[in-house]
Amino acid sequence: MKITSLQQYNDQVRKAKDSPEEFWSEKANNFKWHKKWDKVLEWDFTKPEVKWFQGGKLNITENCLDRHLEKKSNQIAIKWVPNNPNEVGVDLTYLQLHEKVCRFSNVLVNNGVKKGDRICLYMPMVPELTIAVLACARIGAIHSVVFAGFSAKSLSDRINDADCKILITSDGGFRGEKITPLKDISDEAMKTTPTIKLCIVLKRTNSSIKMQKDRDIWWHDEIDKVSLSNNAEKMDSEDALFILYTSGSTGTPKGIVHTTGGYMIYAEYSFRNVFQYNEGDMYWCTADIGWITGHSYIIYGPLLAGATSLMFEGVPTYPDAGRFWRIVEENKVNIFYTAPTAIRALEAHGLEYVKKYNLSSLKVLGTVGEPINEDAWNWYDKEIGNNKCPIVDTWWQTETGGIMISNLAGVTDAKATFATLPLPGIQACILDDEGKEIQEKNKSGKLCVKYPWPSMARTIWGDHKRFRETYFSAFKGYYFSGDGCFINEKGLFRITGRVDDVIIVSGHNLGTAEIESAIDEHENVCESAIVGFPHNIKGNGVYAYVICHQKPENKKKLSEEINKLITLHVGPIAKVDKIQFVDGLPKTRSGKIMRRILRKIASDDINNLGDTSTLLDPFVVQSIIAGKQKD
Ligand code: PRX
Repeated sequence: MKITSLQQYNDQVRKAKDSPEEFWSEKANNFKWHKKWDKVLEWDFTKPEVKWFQGGKLNITENCLDRHLEKKSNQIAIKWVPNNPNEVGVDLTYLQLHEKVCRFSNVLVNNGVKKGDRICLYMPMVPELTIAVLACARIGAIHSVVFAGFSAKSLSDRINDADCKILITSDGGFRGEKITPLKDISDEAMKTTPTIKLCIVLKRTNSSIKMQKDRDIWWHDEIDKVSLSNNAEKMDSEDALFILYTSGSTGTPKGIVHTTGGYMIYAEYSFRNVFQYNEGDMYWCTADIGWITGHSYIIYGPLLAGATSLMFEGVPTYPDAGRFWRIVEENKVNIFYTAPTAIRALEAHGLEYVKKYNLSSLKVLGTVGEPINEDAWNWYDKEIGNNKCPIVDTWWQTETGGIMISNLAGVTDAKATFATLPLPGIQACILDDEGKEIQEKNKSGKLCVKYPWPSMARTIWGDHKRFRETYFSAFKGYYFSGDGCFINEKGLFRITGRVDDVIIVSGHNLGTAEIESAIDEHENVCESAIVGFPHNIKGNGVYAYVICHQKPENKKKLSEEINKLITLHVGPIAKVDKIQFVDGLPKTRSGKIMRRILRKIASDDINNLGDTSTLLDPFVVQSIIAGKQKD
């Protein structure tokens, strides 16, 4: 059932709160289960342990594909639009996608993949990525998709963290005018990944690559060897479905683990309700499948709902800044879901790129990934939505698996910059530093959730202790999101941004620790500190304060070398925008860097530095400010 009125929304909120197990069981009943569950929910946030639909047996791909074959075999499941507008796209019907997934499942089985094995996918945005994801899920292997913009080092770290057995990649990936040499990067990564025994390579760019005998095999050769029929593995509701890495404020990226049954139910429920999907709608989410948005709202959510999901290979500015709008016109897109950073970037290119196209097919617009500023929201509303499309501002995280706080398009009210209301079934609240729920209106605190929801992450791969410490120890009995938030007088939620050391740059989470350790690799770097500063397009830019062993003779050259190291260790998305060479960093007596102060300096907010009394050496601050002004 889809919620279609405010009255129904309120009823569902009440029902989900009063009888959550009944509420979620009703949703679960819409799917195909080989065996029904024994118990709806078991949970304890202190451990933490959360189990939904225990004992239930299912396969998520049967629910994404087989379930629709009777009525929708000829409906397009994936509409793929290539990077180059002159290349012909691919439409895969539910029947064709099913066949391709079955075949590739057989390829994996033929190559020794078993239930529970981890498979790493490092691929461009081509239909085969969706096929490979679903094939893993079909045979019960755990997919770990690594965004194709990450470096060889990041790829190998992620492979090693989960001991992946197979790497699936392609010769290269088209992105605008560039080709990313994915196989070369994979080769570099595989020098340090002892568990990878096999690399399956898709031909996409026809780049000349090396194929290592006994390890590398071609996708197209393997596909020819297998049959069409495949029986999906019966998974337990709580079996792991995938791992997806996300950056934290400290340490290495965290392998967030999602399980099968609950994730499935919530991905479909949130997709249908937030976007108010109607049969026949053309739906387009512009995210990359390398991020959670792509997992939940390009692949799983839309396919579970039997929708047509448009998948775009390229970038918004190729061949020009009108590309998104051209795709909307050509494909009569009805529901369009993107990120604030893309909206701001396209706004900056000017209206002529928008006005060229007919956007009248649009009915619903969405945004995700970071707080959207009012200007960008208004531009989106007026210029793209023609003031007639509800905008859903969807707050959620890799860890939450699905959209948690958002208006439901056209059903509950939108308000610029507000994510507005939790979905029925989500018990979100705001806590003060003492862990008390804030009842006062417009008072900021930490955004938490006090009751489990089906698609919540279950653990961090190989490190349950870190899972507990990161999300469940700040406030006993609550899931802590790491975001700041307040609720206005009408009860609407407004996310204010991260309260930890994660910086969201162009919608990508970057951990300060990862970038700092890459910078510290430079032989002349003694120590560094990274903070975010406001950036018109990217939301946040990255500002680095760097202490050198020896005063740099050529700052420009050193800055370039530092950025090369970041590209090598993390990936180009983490490059710093500004580097300031300093003699010292503001530290407390216990040696902790006071990033709050560095953030203010980077943002030119120096009249308001706050309490500096705990600093070990207060003069350091003046010297950094003077240095910035000189630069
Ligand atoms: O800070 C919040 C921000 O993105 C973070 C989650 O990032 P990630 O795990 O990469 O997932 C992004 C896509 C779901 C959150 O902690 N964020 C996400 N959506 C919003 C947002 N901030 C404000 N408003 C949003 N709509």
